[in-house]
Amino acid sequence: MTESWDILWLNARVATMKAGAPAYGLIADGAVGVSRGAIVWVGPVADVPVEQRQNAQHVIDCRGDLVTPGMIDCHTHLVYGGNRAREFEMRLEGATYADIARAGGGINSTVRETRAADENALFATARTRLQRLMAEGVTTIEIKSGYGLDRQNEMKMLAVARRLGEQANVSVHATFLGAHALPPEFEDRADAYIDLVCQDMLPAVAEADLADAVDAFCENIAFSTDQVRRVFEAATALGLPVKIHAEQLSNQGGAELAASFGALSADHLEYLDETGARAMAEAATVAVLLPGAFYFLRETQLPPIEMLRDQGVRLALASDSNPGSSPVVSLLLMLNMGCTLFGMTPEEALAGVTRNAAAALGIDDQVGTIERGKRADLVLWRLQDPAELAYRIGDNPVAAVVRGGVEARLS
Ligand code: NIG
Ligand code: FE
Repeated sequence: MTESWDILWLNARVATMKAGAPAYGLIADGAVGVSRGAIVWVGPVADVPVEQRQNAQHVIDCRGDLVTPGMIDCHTHLVYGGNRAREFEMRLEGATYADIARAGGGINSTVRETRAADENALFATARTRLQRLMAEGVTTIEIKSGYGLDRQNEMKMLAVARRLGEQANVSVHATFLGAHALPPEFEDRADAYIDLVCQDMLPAVAEADLADAVDAFCENIAFSTDQVRRVFEAATALGLPVKIHAEQLSNQGGAELAASFGALSADHLEYLDETGARAMAEAATVAVLLPGAFYFLRETQLPPIEMLRDQGVRLALASDSNPGSSPVVSLLLMLNMGCTLFGMTPEEALAGVTRNAAAALGIDDQVGTIERGKRADLVLWRLQDPAELAYRIGDNPVAAVVRGGVEARLS
């Protein structure tokens, strides 16, 4: 006799988000069977095996409402001290993001506050932000370091990220972003700081298993392609996959460099050119678009969505939750902005926080679609049409969230 299922969701509109399937991979009168934390069956209600229908432990009647894969926020800087509301005021008075960074503010002002905060304080503020994201169906989140900028403080941030993953019902992917900004004690010595990142910080982080990937900020206010290349060589030697913040404020060729290392993703990309897009396509590097930062910095240069589509680059969307350029705690708002600001379709936006976000983290074999064998990360929404997820603003239609077959605590 086959084992009975733990959960059977019946009468759902199931947006499977399966690759290659049209129209959200939607099954109009669908059912999903879950056993031991995994999806074991998905298909039309009429085809559910009779014995499973009778014996499933919990049967949930979705009454025609929408079920999607768990939401994945694949680019955040969730752990940090303080906030930068004062810089927001300065920008509204005319200063630019780059001006503020060059004057010692920007990322470095958050570095001061993050260094001064202990692990418990960082944990508490990050957890509040995480709860907001989880309340909208986030079941997997990436969290970067990058506001410590020395070995001890980078490791402190990553330890907080790991602890969030242990204590909240969410999967956390931790990314080491030591090459985020030049810390003040290394002023005019960027290459010496990169030496420290490669020879001291990165090996210590890898040894303590505190990171799942390595990121770098390639920009004229941050690090050059030569410096980022050294970081990527060190990461690759330690067996860690790489990703990049690239072409956000100018075109530095960062995406092309990252693609040459087989990067999981290149993120921002407003100034990406065709060479970069082609290199990303060849390396299957995912484009992570961050409309929150574009909006909050009042940028006007749009990421080249049409070019990325033409090249067949997969598009992901993320919150970029951070105190300076995207103080965002809503992934649903990013779906709306991906459509209104960047011209994505609602279906591309949803794929961007499910299937393609999973690819940006290198875990698309485990999560991101509703398919047999994947982890049972599912969201039930009080709505029917998947386009409504991108259409609404400031609403939260979540009815239930399940991660690994277990109902997630939402507060
Ligand atoms: O993704 N671009 C670099 N890093 C962040 C901003 C960090 C900050 O301003 O604190 C971003 O936009
Ligand atoms: Fe970022």
